This record gives sequence, C-alpha cells and structure tokens, in this order.
Amino acid sequence: MKIRVLIGILLVGALPLTASAQSVTKSPMNEQYLPRLGDIMNNIQLRHIKLSFAGMAQNWELAAYELRQLRAGLEEAAAMYGGIPVTNVVTMTAPIDSIGDAIAAKDGKRFAKLFSELTAGCNGCHQSMGRGYIQMRVPTEQPFSNQVFPPRRTP
Ligand code: HEC
Repeated sequence: MKIRVLIGILLVGALPLTASAQSVTKSPMNEQYLPRLGDIMNNIQLRHIKLSFAGMAQNWELAAYELRQLRAGLEEAAAMYGGIPVTNVVTMTAPIDSIGDAIAAKDGKRFAKLFSELTAGCNGCHQSMGRGYIQMRVPTEQPFSNQVFPPRRTP
C-alpha cells in the first residue's frame, strides 16, 4: 500500500517534466542551497591533488589556477560555515601565499616543501576540529588519467 502511494507520488511528480522537459525552474530550496562543508572539502581535496601534480609537472599556469581554486574553496568554507575558527583559515593564508610565490618563481623545490606545509595546515585544522581521522598527505599517484598535467607543448 505504502509503496503504491509512493509510486503514485513519483508519477505525479514526473508528469510536469515529461510535459515540458525544458522548463526546469528553481525551487525555493534551490535558491537557498548551501553546499555541505564536506562537499566543499571534497572539492578542496581535488584542488589539493591537482595542485600537487601541476607543480610536480612544472605546469606553473595550471598550478596557479588550482591554487586560486583551492584558496577560493577555503574562503567559501569560512564564509558559509561560521563554526570554523577564523584562525584556522588564516593559518592557511601564509602557506598559500608562499606557494603562490614559488609558482611565480617557477621554483619546483620550494613548491614541494611548501606543499607539505600546506598539507600539514589541512591536518592541523582537521585535528583541532575533532576531525583528526581525516588525514591528508602529499599524493603519490595521479588519479586523473583524463587530464594532462605537464604543460602543453608548443610546436
Ligand atoms: C579551517 C579548517 C579546515 C581547513 C583549513 C581544512 N579543512 Fe578539510 N575539513 C574541515 C572540517 C570541519 C571537515 C569536516 C566536515 C564535516 O564534518 O562535514 C573537513 C573535511 C575534509 C575532508 C573530508 C570530506 C568528505 O566528506 O569526505 C577532506 C577530504 C578535507 N577536509 C580536505 C582538506 C584539505 C585538502 C585541506 C587543505 C588544503 C583542508 N581540508 C583544510 C575543516 C578544515
């Protein structure tokens, strides 16, 4: 019985979509959609890993781009989630700025050192917020086989 009611609701809900598939309107819930902190962090994790591989491949343009995205992700997290201690976010500013300098100087050695410091910063915040079980490290394997990390070769 319950299942039938559920199917009925699903079918009724599906009708407007089949009638005009194009008219996707924002529901009030969409208007106030707030990404979950874990989802923002998952994005930051992507930037973190891509930043690492861009730096290792000395693709400085890509590295600068990923660093911008990572910074924006952290700023977003801080702006949307008041519970995050500001100091924890501010601690990240120095390593991020320094990585920016290493990227501008195309200094691979400095980049690698600072990347470790940045990663320690991630873990510092996780530990201080009772999330010590979320441990980040410098990646060793590149999982994005559909993206090329070394700089594009100009013929
Ligand atoms: C200001 C504090 C803070 C900083 C800095 C921070 N995180 Fe987080 N992170 C958190 C919190 C809090 C959570 C748990 C979110 C939750 O409970 O929903 C989290 C969760 C995560 C997760 C788990 C996501 C999931 O749902 O699977 C990953 C991955 C992550 N962070 C990566 C990073 C990386 C990489 C960095 C550094 C570049 C970083 N974080 C820096 C506070 C921080």
